[in-house]
This record gives sequence, C-alpha cells and structure tokens, in this order.
Amino acid sequence: MILLTEQNNIVTLTLNRPEKRNALSGEMIDAIHTGLDTVEQNDAMRVMILAGEGPSFCAGMDLKGVINNPHKMGEMLKGLGKVSQRIRRIPVPTIARVQGAAIGGGAGLMTVCDFAFTHAQSKVGYPEVDLHICPAVVAPWLIKKIGAGKARAMLLAGGTITGQQGFDAGLATHLCDEGDLVQAVDDFAANLARGGKEALATTKHWLNELDGSLDDDLLQKGADLSAKIIAGEEAVSRLKQLY
Ligand code: ACO
Repeated sequence: MILLTEQNNIVTLTLNRPEKRNALSGEMIDAIHTGLDTVEQNDAMRVMILAGEGPSFCAGMDLKGVINNPHKMGEMLKGLGKVSQRIRRIPVPTIARVQGAAIGGGAGLMTVCDFAFTHAQSKVGYPEVDLHICPAVVAPWLIKKIGAGKARAMLLAGGTITGQQGFDAGLATHLCDEGDLVQAVDDFAANLARGGKEALATTKHWLNELDGSLDDDLLQKGADLSAKIIAGEEAVSRLKQLY
C-alpha cells in the first residue's frame, strides 16, 4: 500500500492505492506506520517527499468498510493522528506533493508536512462537518499552518476549495502547473538537501517546540475527540446515508 524510494538521499514515501484514490483504510494507516519505521532509521535521508500514486494524492479516510464498526473508525482516526505526529517530527524537511485531491485526512497529511506543492485546479480541504464528523485530529496542524482565524472559518464551513484557494489561504506553500509538479518538487527537494543537516534538524525541532507540535496531550485529545464524535449516533447515521 506504500512505496519507499530513495535518490540522492531524498526519500519518497508514496501512498499506493490509486484505484481508491489512496484512501486511508486501516491497512493503509498501518502500512504508513511501517514505512515511517524505516524512514526514521535512515540517517542518510536529507528530505522526505510524501506523494500519492495515480490521479489523486489522498481522498481521506476510507470509512466504507468499517461503517458498522464505530470503534474501528475511531481507532483509524487515532492511527492517523499518530501518523501525523510522526511525520511532523521527522528531523528532515518534508514536502507533500499534491495532485488531484487532498481531502479530510488527506488534507491533514498535506498540512502536517513542512511544505506542500499543488496545482490551481486541485481539490483540497476539510469536509468533515458535512459528514457529521469532527476534524479535531487535523485542526492543530491547520491552525499552525494558516492561523487560528482562517482555520476556524475553513473547518466550520466544511466543503472543499481549489488548490489556488488553498495556496491563497496558506494551506499549500507552493503552486505550479500540474504537469510541472514532480519536477518542481524534485528541484525544491534537491535544494533543501543542500542545507546543513544538523542546522535543519535543530531548526525543525525548535519550530515544533515553539508551535506546540510536541504537545502530545493536546494532540491526543484531538484524536480522542474525533474518535468520540465518529462513533456517535449523529455521525454513524449520516455516514450510513452516504455510504
Ligand atoms: N474512501 C474510500 N474510497 C474512496 C474514497 C474514500 N475516501 N474516495 C474515493 N474512493 C473510491 C471511490 O469509491 C471509487 O471506487 P470505485 O471505483 O470502487 O467505485 C474510486 O475511489 C474512485 O473515486 P472517484 O470519485 O471516481 O474518483 P475521482 O478521481 O473522480 O475523484 C475524489 C476523486 C475527488 C478524491 C473523490 O473520490 C472524492 O471526493 N472522494 C471522497 C472524499 C471524502 O469525502 N473523503 C472523506 C473525508 S473525511 C476524513 O478524511 C476524516
């Protein structure tokens, strides 16, 4: 479900379930954790790219198969929370390469990375409230990325926005033509890889400390809140309507 490749000390972790738009099933979340085990042990790595195979980066949580198991849905959200924490703490710069769509949990993965490249026509955002679920698990990363006021408006409004709007809001750090996405990210990564390894790791750790990215209790609370709401009657009946 994931692919790990490395070139010139730039590691690419690719979500590899294109037929389902890289939707995050329990198996996919486990596979990302396993991939991160390998990534975290790679001392030579200087940059990590997070990518998705096929037409879309990531369609968010795959809730269809577990709709009758609210406990499992909650566990998946907590698993996504842990994945996000681990990506945030990788001691090298991380870049999300977002083609097509990054929705819900997919937008969360895009947001937690240090950089996010996308194209103007992509579809990004957080439609959780439309599904009667709660984006608590991804909210901390969005607040850190675009600020509390914009995050509040985005999360309470639900729906999705275009890559251009995401870039204007600060959700994406870079915008380019869709056809140039891979090359633009590769060029940017090669440039980042020339930075001082210790300087970058220390800078990143300090930024994480300053902006609350190391606050395990708060992050856990977000995951617990999302898990609680998705297991509730309101969410379950809405999700059953949709799926
Ligand atoms: N979970 C499971 N399967 C999914 C998901 C998902 N989140 N998203 C797409 N798929 C599946 C579709 O069911 C379809 O499968 P099928 O061929 O077996 O019927 C396949 O992926 C392709 O989907 P399309 O919609 O045909 O692909 P398209 O490229 O036209 O659109 C897009 C991609 C924009 C991502 C669209 O699929 C979409 O909007 N998906 C739902 C996004 C969503 O609401 N995610 C949940 C957010 S909430 C959260 O993450 C906590």
